[in-house]
Amino acid sequence: MSAKDLHHDPYEEFNMEIPQDTFPGESITARAAKAIVESAMWTDANPMLNLSSFVTTYMEEEVRDIMRDHAHINYVDHDMYPKTYAMEQIMVKWLHDLWNGPQGVEPYGAATVGSSEACMLAGLAHKWNWREAREAAGKDASKPNMVTGGNVQIVWKKFMRYFDVEDRIIPLKPGNYRLTAEHLDEHVDENTICVVAIAGQTFTGEDDDIQEIHDWLDEYEKKTGISIPLHIDGASGGFVNPFLYPDYEWDFRLPRVQSINASGHKFGLVYPGIGWVIFREKSIFNEGLIFYVNYLGGESPTATLNFSRNAAQIIAQAYKFLRHGKEGYTKIMKQTMENTERLREKLIESGYFTIMNETQRIPVVALTLHDDIKNFNEFDVSFKVREKGWVLSAYSMPPNAESVNSLRIVVRPHLNRTVVDQLAKDVIEACDYLKENGGNAKPPELHKHTAPKC
Ligand SMILES: Cc1ncc(COP(=O)(O)O)c(C=O)c1O
Repeated sequence: MSAKDLHHDPYEEFNMEIPQDTFPGESITARAAKAIVESAMWTDANPMLNLSSFVTTYMEEEVRDIMRDHAHINYVDHDMYPKTYAMEQIMVKWLHDLWNGPQGVEPYGAATVGSSEACMLAGLAHKWNWREAREAAGKDASKPNMVTGGNVQIVWKKFMRYFDVEDRIIPLKPGNYRLTAEHLDEHVDENTICVVAIAGQTFTGEDDDIQEIHDWLDEYEKKTGISIPLHIDGASGGFVNPFLYPDYEWDFRLPRVQSINASGHKFGLVYPGIGWVIFREKSIFNEGLIFYVNYLGGESPTATLNFSRNAAQIIAQAYKFLRHGKEGYTKIMKQTMENTERLREKLIESGYFTIMNETQRIPVVALTLHDDIKNFNEFDVSFKVREKGWVLSAYSMPPNAESVNSLRIVVRPHLNRTVVDQLAKDVIEACDYLKENGGNAKPPELHKHTAPKC
């Protein structure tokens, strides 16, 4: 049926086919457009049951109202929306404080679209600083490299490729999925712009051995005179560690940590997309990366990869920080961690699984099936529970731990005990079924850029 033939009979009106290859012709009613667009996505996953993702899917009604009311604000227009900009600047200071930045310095940072943009900005700052120092010393500045672990999220591989930085990725091994200081000596040299260590890694939820890496870099400086900065990718851990483990030194308390990123849309508890990059002090964010533009009114600094963006998430983040404070985030994270442990215990007790993340800090359950289970695998379990609507990640670990498959469940704060118990029951029933009937899922074709969702 063509749009022209539409009548006011809703059944007829909503029956228009969505053109697949050509731009839509005639206009249709708002009611029809809404119904057609919404129905086209009915079979998408239920975001609340999508536990393969770290990204927030629940926010209170009050903050949803705020987001709707600010959805038309273009954040980058600081001249027109100076108070929104001021709020971002206050939150930069709050995060510098939360992550124990030194006193008496000028903090610097930015709200970004997510951790990916934040990581790229931090990586660029370290590349610029390294290049400037090399040039000032009359040394070759054409071969920058970055050292990190095989457990890094895809953003760092993108950063290194897109910005011409050699990737020096230290492989994992079965049973050890964290970056430690063990192989740094084979990879770090005078061309290393920074080492990236993760707080709350994507694959198992563990932290890299941040203290050991930090101390190794101190020793390296003593031996060689070369000082290499440490960046902490706290996409998930940045909003968990300060509340659950206040005495754990993963942040600016370690003098070599020069920058930290975190995802406001993960455990910062805001809908996508918002991330943060915070520098130990302003001078680390190389002035050469800042542009001053005047096309929107007065002169505004801009130093993000994106220009125009929605202000709603930034304002929502301000609501969340004020609403929960340290007290509220601590309560939420404690409860979430208790639910994670509850789920993990039930799944381990079932006898099917081995735990992969003994040292985990963020609320993630990462499991692998016992070696003696031969007639089904982690991919089968993930497919089987999908029948009930659950989305759980199954993936092969990165090199050199590809022989290990993982089933990963991100326990986000919206999951209550009833839901966690139901999930445990459904996973165990799926395993019982597969034990009887066998599974036939093959791990998806491994290609170089395979990565779990974030
Ligand atoms: C450790 C880590 N770094 C970076 C990212 C990218 O974050 P974003 O999705 O906020 O861009 C993720 C996403 O899962 C992550 O887990």
